Amino acid sequence: MNTTPLAGRAALVTGGSRGIGLAVARALVRAGARVALLARSRAVLDTVVAELGPLASAHTCDLTAPVQVDVVLPEALQALGGRADILIGNAGVFPLAPVAETSPGAFEETLQANLVAPFRMLHAVLPGMREAGQGHIVTIGSVADRHIFPGNGAYSTSKFGARALHEVLRAELTGSGVRCTLVSPAATDTPIWDPIDPDHTPGFPKRADMLRAEDVADAVLWALTRPPHVNVDELRIARS
Ligand SMILES: NC(=O)c1ccc[n+]([C@@H]2O[C@H](COP(=O)([O-])OP(=O)(O)OC[C@H]3O[C@@H](n4cnc5c(N)ncnc54)[C@H](OP(=O)(O)O)[C@@H]3O)[C@@H](O)[C@H]2O)c1
Repeated sequence: MNTTPLAGRAALVTGGSRGIGLAVARALVRAGARVALLARSRAVLDTVVAELGPLASAHTCDLTAPVQVDVVLPEALQALGGRADILIGNAGVFPLAPVAETSPGAFEETLQANLVAPFRMLHAVLPGMREAGQGHIVTIGSVADRHIFPGNGAYSTSKFGARALHEVLRAELTGSGVRCTLVSPAATDTPIWDPIDPDHTPGFPKRADMLRAEDVADAVLWALTRPPHVNVDELRIARS
């Protein structure tokens, strides 16, 4: 059995400093891939890279700030040897508020983080993947990319949009050798829930009843390690 099926592959992981992104980064490194991690907190990224070892590099960047992305993305690609074979579009925010209490500015910020920033990343790596005739774009969606929940106006809108973008991209990339996969988890126990404190807030699943970040990472790794002619379109994951 090949224990490093992604050896020689290079992956950009947005939001790789904690939660699902960190679990994916660990899985990719275990599978032999080089990873470039992008997030805003330098200190946290440095700790993660110290844990992951020489296959990992850290790149501090607010993905909603194009000026920062323009500087940091080339550095991240350089750390990967000049190209990304894999993009894990994972970084995201999860604001909760009824529509009436969501300011237009807050709505726009969510779309920037969860939809526009992922678009910017995939737009940057797509030409190289097309030219190489191979590559894999993984979008971390959400149960809320198909189902709405009250209080999710901005979040669900962004995730429905991310799913639509994934579907258009998949149609456009058919036959190109570039694959794209949407991985849509239900509630997963990560720091994204810290401001909500679901264990003590009625109406939310308890952390113990949520998925683990590693469950989502398993799904990502499975999609990435299918034979090149197999494109896993969409994986939807919930607790049994
Ligand atoms: N946890 C769940 O229940 C759940 C369920 C379904 C889908 N998801 C999706 O899974 C993805 C990851 O969620 P998570 O639960 O792992 O969240 P998390 O624990 O809060 O981690 C989010 C990651 O994204 C980074 N990030 C956020 N905004 C950023 C920005 N503007 N620029 C750069 N990096 C940014 C964070 O690092 P910095 O703060 O240092 O920037 C962190 O590394 C999100 O897209 C989320 O919508 C989560």
